[in-house]
Amino acid sequence: MAEVLKTYLKDRCKVVDKALNGFLPETRIRPVTVHEAMRYSIFAGGKRLRPILSLAAAEACGGDTENTLAPAAAVECIHTYSLIHDDLPCMDDDDLRRGQPTSHIKYGEGVAVLAGDALLTIAFEILAQTPPTKRYDVGAYVSELATASGSRHLIGGQILDLEGEGSDIQLTPTQLKYIHESKTAALLTSSIRLGGMSANATPQRLEALTSYGKSLGLAFQIIDDILDVTQTSEKLGKSAGKDEATDKSTYPALFGLEKSRKEAARLTKKAHDALKLFGKQGQRLHEILDYLLDRDY
Ligand code: IPE
Ligand code: IPE
Ligand code: MG
Ligand code: MG
Ligand code: MG
Repeated sequence: MAEVLKTYLKDRCKVVDKALNGFLPETRIRPVTVHEAMRYSIFAGGKRLRPILSLAAAEACGGDTENTLAPAAAVECIHTYSLIHDDLPCMDDDDLRRGQPTSHIKYGEGVAVLAGDALLTIAFEILAQTPPTKRYDVGAYVSELATASGSRHLIGGQILDLEGEGSDIQLTPTQLKYIHESKTAALLTSSIRLGGMSANATPQRLEALTSYGKSLGLAFQIIDDILDVTQTSEKLGKSAGKDEATDKSTYPALFGLEKSRKEAARLTKKAHDALKLFGKQGQRLHEILDYLLDRDY
């Protein structure tokens, strides 16, 4: 990864962490357990990709970082809640996340469920603090994130993923693409769109960011599937080889590694193309794409 991008990502991580620290209730506030569990999962690590994309999209639209802190923190709360619930025994049943024991291993299932619920809920409390712009009001922000996180997108994808588990079920490529678009690409797209909206993006720019996000988001989950096969748990900070062990339908399972890599590269190219109208202002969004294609965790 280029040194400039490395520095940028590190710096943005710090900005995001500071914002999250300010928005989340402190652990001394009652009930202590749930606030501890919320912070445990949020600050366990993580690439902070979604909030960084919000900030980068806002920058590309000429926005001020300050106005994008709330949506950036909100999308990370939604993402982290989705991971806590994804790891539960009734879902993917994982004991390692972000290099640490998963929430239910550390706190028990009841607390993990509630910490997830609390992060999901506080996301909207935080998001509502985003300053409105000329084109977008708080209702538009809330509706944007609620739609992406709801039963027609993130939760919908998780349901179909769950139902498609098991060796006797072979999903079609169309079904698998739909799952990946829903469970992963929708929130990534929304993170980017919210960044643009908080920077008062023109409808054309918002449209371009949407295309960029959809391609990036699908490529992201394909790469996640590939890494599950090719990397170690230590590197990933989550249990590798899990998809095959539970007979998940994934891109590598359906198409093999080589074809999956090609598809991720094709989608990355498509996402680059979507940024044309940004010219030089899209530089950071281009760089993030290349980093994501080459990532090893
Ligand atoms: C993991 O997302 C879950 C998927 C949607 C594939 P990330 O790979 O962004 O996880 P963190 O935030 O870095 O832990
Ligand atoms: C998770 O997909 C997507 C969401 C949490 C919405 P995965 O189940 O592949 O994510 P990992 O591999 O556990 O991070
Ligand atoms: Mg899952
Ligand atoms: Mg999982
Ligand atoms: Mg995975």
